[in-house]
Amino acid sequence: MDKNKRGPRQDAEINSGGAREQGHGIMTPRILTASDIPECMRLKESAGWNQTEQDWRNVMALAPEGCLGIEESGAVVATTTAVCFGQELGWIGMVLTDPAYRGRGYARCLMQEALAQLSARRVRWIKLDATDMGRPLYEQLGFRTEGLIERWLRPPGAVLPPCTAPGPFRLDVALDREAFGADRSELLEVLAKMETATLESGAYAMGRPGSKAHYFGPCVSRSREHARDLLTWFLGQHQREPVYWDVLSANSEAVDLAREHGFEKVRTLSRMSLDSVADTPRLDNHDELVFAAAGFEYG
Ligand SMILES: CC(C)(COP(=O)(O)OP(=O)(O)OC[C@H]1O[C@@H](n2cnc3c(N)ncnc32)[C@H](O)[C@@H]1OP(=O)(O)O)[C@@H](O)C(=O)NCCC(=O)NCCS
Repeated sequence: MDKNKRGPRQDAEINSGGAREQGHGIMTPRILTASDIPECMRLKESAGWNQTEQDWRNVMALAPEGCLGIEESGAVVATTTAVCFGQELGWIGMVLTDPAYRGRGYARCLMQEALAQLSARRVRWIKLDATDMGRPLYEQLGFRTEGLIERWLRPPGAVLPPCTAPGPFRLDVALDREAFGADRSELLEVLAKMETATLESGAYAMGRPGSKAHYFGPCVSRSREHARDLLTWFLGQHQREPVYWDVLSANSEAVDLAREHGFEKVRTLSRMSLDSVADTPRLDNHDELVFAAAGFEYG
């Protein structure tokens, strides 16, 4: 059978022990733990990504068995993470291979292992945000593009008028679920330990530090006005820092707000999905409510 045409369920059956034979020999994925974080940071630095050590700790806390790596000569040379939002959705992230080890099948091996794990847990949909480098692999594994997600950057410096501080974070589970299409309350509780605010309407926004720029997101709102209030509150706290904001292209109001507030688009990724269980109805998500994504590793 063509290795590229195998579905995740079949992979689970072919190799339930984790070791996989690729062109360059046997590779054995293993679970990453906190002691691997310095190696994980080295890998993400080589790709120029924004994550911090805390981001790795967060993803390991949310997916203790879903953070996978491959080690060579005592060093982690490739990583992949899979965070589950119940059985509805698994989100793949942190797909990284050390530049010196690329093109040898490490990312494919880890993706197949992650998909096998999600399949064994009967997770119905799997999604990810793909860079141009990652997209060919995901297409071979059966993922299809469902939209685009843009990273916008606001350089430091432009001073904003002061705005009223919103209230502390209070999760409107129904609103978030309507926006995202799955229950991500566990993720939001972890991210809420950093920077959060909620409006009376239920609209909320969060932020967190990054190694290159402070990160605005997630933000969910029923109206552009409330999203703008949350954004100006956030920018008011970070006027002198660069800020990243990941916007779904489908949400034109978010794109307009980004432009109006001095952000510039710096890259575009593809949001891709794979139905793991055959004939699963599409997730009922509403991109017009999503004013900022939670991060490429979470959706
Ligand atoms: C994307 C990335 C993870 C691939 O890792 P890798 O271990 O080299 O990937 P693999 O060797 O398993 O290759 C898997 C497939 O990716 C594609 N690919 C890998 N290297 C490629 C290259 N240099 N040019 C074009 N396609 C390439 C191929 O389709 C390949 O399948 P094939 O071997 O059957 O042709 C790695 O390039 C990387 O870390 N890039 C920077 C971070 C990034 O963009 N990650 C993806 C996030 S979504």
